[in-house]
Amino acid sequence: MIVKIKRQTDYASYNVDIPKNFTVLELLHKIKEQDPTLSYRHMCRAGICGTCGIKANGKGILACKTKLDYFDTDEILLEPLDNFEPIKDLVVNHQKAFDKYKSLRVDFVYKDNIFNFKSVENSKNCIACFLCNSVCPVITVDKDFATPFVFARSYGILEDDRNQNKDYKKLLEGVINHCTHCKNCTYACPSYVMPEYLIKKLEDKLIDVGLLQKPSTDMFFGF
Ligand code: SF4
Ligand code: SF4
Ligand code: FES
Repeated sequence: MIVKIKRQTDYASYNVDIPKNFTVLELLHKIKEQDPTLSYRHMCRAGICGTCGIKANGKGILACKTKLDYFDTDEILLEPLDNFEPIKDLVVNHQKAFDKYKSLRVDFVYKDNIFNFKSVENSKNCIACFLCNSVCPVITVDKDFATPFVFARSYGILEDDRNQNKDYKKLLEGVINHCTHCKNCTYACPSYVMPEYLIKKLEDKLIDVGLLQKPSTDMFFGF
């Protein structure tokens, strides 16, 4: 297998003998035996911790969950996730995304005696892999946009019936209404969180509580 990896300033090529039923993470381990200077992140090796997100042949993947036979070629190009500052090789800096989440997170204030609570969709499945953020076109042009990761997580707090703190205004601080609903985040998410769907539901809620205006159809038809 021919593997090209984006390093600091250039691409490095490796020729690796490895069965196709191995994962991209196992491929990286093999390359590390040849070249101990290579850096990448991993922890659980079970698709749970979200740390191994990288780009393979142009698509965001979890390295530990993606087998080599997923690619119908013997050549593979590995790069760090887009929309993040690279630290070294395949390792990127997640700090800004976590900081944004901390600044816009609503504190969970428990209500008493709530035993039946409605579903918070798949929000709680989020593993903070940031594949969604790496494909969001708004992030590149709008620094205030809180990102699909933050909105997907916020949904799970705001829409949980056990939480009495419904500070929906935080969503507007993160300009949720700048989402273009391109659905890139939903297609990229390996945990089926469907961030775009949750953003749509949160926008509908903002309209219901009078914090956001329903988009006018004039916008689309140019009247
Ligand atoms: S749907 Fe919205 S949040 Fe998701 S990638 Fe597109 S613009 Fe970004
Ligand atoms: S919403 Fe999905 S893609 Fe985004 S960080 Fe969470 S698990 Fe990853
Ligand atoms: S190593 Fe934890 S999700 Fe891949």
